Amino acid sequence: MADNQGNQLAKNYHLDNPQTSSQGSGGFFLKGAGHCDWGLQSRLARMFRPASGNTVMLAFDHGYIMGPTSGLERLDLVIPPLIPFVDVLMATRGALRSSIPPTQPKPVCLRVNYDSSVLYDDMSLGGGLACDIRNAVRMHADCMAVQTFIGAPGEKNSLELLSRTVDAGLDYGIPTLGVVAVGKQMARDEKFFLLATRLLAETGCHLVKSYYCEGFERVAAACPVPIVIAGGKKLPELDALLMCERAINEGARGVDMGRNIFQSENPAAMCRAVAKVVHEKHTAKQAHELFLNLCN
Ligand code: 5RP
Repeated sequence: MADNQGNQLAKNYHLDNPQTSSQGSGGFFLKGAGHCDWGLQSRLARMFRPASGNTVMLAFDHGYIMGPTSGLERLDLVIPPLIPFVDVLMATRGALRSSIPPTQPKPVCLRVNYDSSVLYDDMSLGGGLACDIRNAVRMHADCMAVQTFIGAPGEKNSLELLSRTVDAGLDYGIPTLGVVAVGKQMARDEKFFLLATRLLAETGCHLVKSYYCEGFERVAAACPVPIVIAGGKKLPELDALLMCERAINEGARGVDMGRNIFQSENPAAMCRAVAKVVHEKHTAKQAHELFLNLCN
């Protein structure tokens, strides 16, 4: 029987032999999606730039548990100017409908679950489906995002929701993003992220949102679908860019970043700096120089 000792022995990640089109991707540029149908691949190819294989997703879904988060007090004023500089918008349907013009051209990753607000001690308890597949299609979603709580009391419910979302999305060629949540009491180390990201991929999602950690190259290698990293709490811009640089060099396929962009002193400049690292392999230092120049 599978048990929790498995990770202690896992060590053969073949870091010198990345998963390629001939190893399970069926000729498609994103790992893990080679055997998906045309519509699903087409949506993924709108989200990830085929030239770099990477994506800059702008996450502004924080209000669904945090209310008017610092930097996101006015979605209608903050987000539209950033849209030209990112590849994907990640948000709730309420944020999109109320504040983002439907004429904007970028693909949308729709958060389809709700969770307990930050007023509750255990955020993992009490979540559910906020937007079903009919409404996701109505919102013209290119992807659906579901939060999961691996190792927390809400694990079972969140995995059930992820599984049902993957099922529903496959009927319409819409991929699912599995989000790894980190709670107050949860570890944020390689062992946890190895387990959580792999578990989500095997549950069927087509991409995973997780966090950068020491040992990330093993986390990325062992996850058979692309990982995009969240930014987490606001860092100085250079540190956030360094985190992006390390993540990309170690196998992340992009970022799904919120606070480190919209809480920056210059969010548009930060988007452009992050995109240089993600798509053009700029170093964090080079990208930071661009950021400073744009600020001036
Ligand atoms: C939490 C989320 C967030 O709402 C958000 O997308 C996180 O982005 P960041 O950490 O970069 O502010 O997905 O799981």
